[in-house]
Amino acid sequence: METITLANGTDIPVIGTGTNTYGKEGNQYNGELNGDFSALQSAIKAGYRLIDTAISYRNEAGVGKTVYESGVDRSEFYLTTKIPAKEEYIGSKERVEQTILQSFENLKTDYIDLYLIHHPIEDKDTLKQTWEVLESFVDQGKIKSIGVSNFSIEQLELLKTFARIQPVVNQIQSNPHTWNNELIEYLLKNDILPEAWSPLNKVNEEQTAKLTAIGEKYDKNWGQVLLRYQIQRGVAVIPKSHNSKHQAENLELFDFELSKDDLTVIESL
Ligand SMILES: NC(=O)c1ccc[n+]([C@@H]2O[C@H](COP(=O)([O-])OP(=O)(O)OC[C@H]3O[C@@H](n4cnc5c(N)ncnc54)[C@H](OP(=O)(O)O)[C@@H]3O)[C@@H](O)[C@H]2O)c1
Repeated sequence: METITLANGTDIPVIGTGTNTYGKEGNQYNGELNGDFSALQSAIKAGYRLIDTAISYRNEAGVGKTVYESGVDRSEFYLTTKIPAKEEYIGSKERVEQTILQSFENLKTDYIDLYLIHHPIEDKDTLKQTWEVLESFVDQGKIKSIGVSNFSIEQLELLKTFARIQPVVNQIQSNPHTWNNELIEYLLKNDILPEAWSPLNKVNEEQTAKLTAIGEKYDKNWGQVLLRYQIQRGVAVIPKSHNSKHQAENLELFDFELSKDDLTVIESL
């Protein structure tokens, strides 16, 4: 698995699997939990090692159990989870600690590779308090890296003013509907890895046709072209699929390189 070295010297796979509809009725985000993690089992079998979950997905425990029972050594996995920016999880220092400890239990692990704040925390004191607890877990070696998700440049600049340990990842939306280019440029300049969520979502028919045409030159499909585009510009990706063929295809990104002209076409989709 290709990796990127983060600002703190640790390595992160450039591609992982999303999980936000795994273990749920009808493969729907808001579906009832049904314990069916066959899609995650199939992703692990295909070779995915970065597994992206979150407390808000309600499936942290099922994800943890599936990873634990996969037969693959824990050291091969890169587990990401996220604390919700909600009072019940971050209302006090103790609640933040308890939320994080619950993640350890759910994920059946004694260390977590990457812990993110899922959404911006508007109140500065609460953000500071949450970040300090995350930093204390890093100090103890229990969390390897900390970062954020859906943070704007302004929110990152605020975090910088008091962070003892800087965020190494900002997980954000990036797809042809919302590239988030200005933010990505800032992140790359500031040594914060942009990790694209929904990298294959919100692609309309016209965009799919253009990507498919580019892909024909490399014997790749539109999804592979889109994921490769992100990787080539330094953005990590966490696509998610319930289809084992798609899961396998989405990993086949390292035997071709998009030309400058093709990058320009994709940029302007
Ligand atoms: N931090 C945040 O706020 C946030 C927000 C949203 C998502 N996320 C994370 O990002 C992950 C990915 O985002 P996502 O799940 O919204 O969207 P996504 O991975 O961009 O797209 C998922 C859709 O693409 C289809 N797909 C995947 N591979 C394909 C291929 N090779 N060919 C054709 N269709 C393909 C899937 O259908 P099939 O199942 O049929 O393949 C599914 O409908 C989530 O699972 C979650 O972990 C984070």
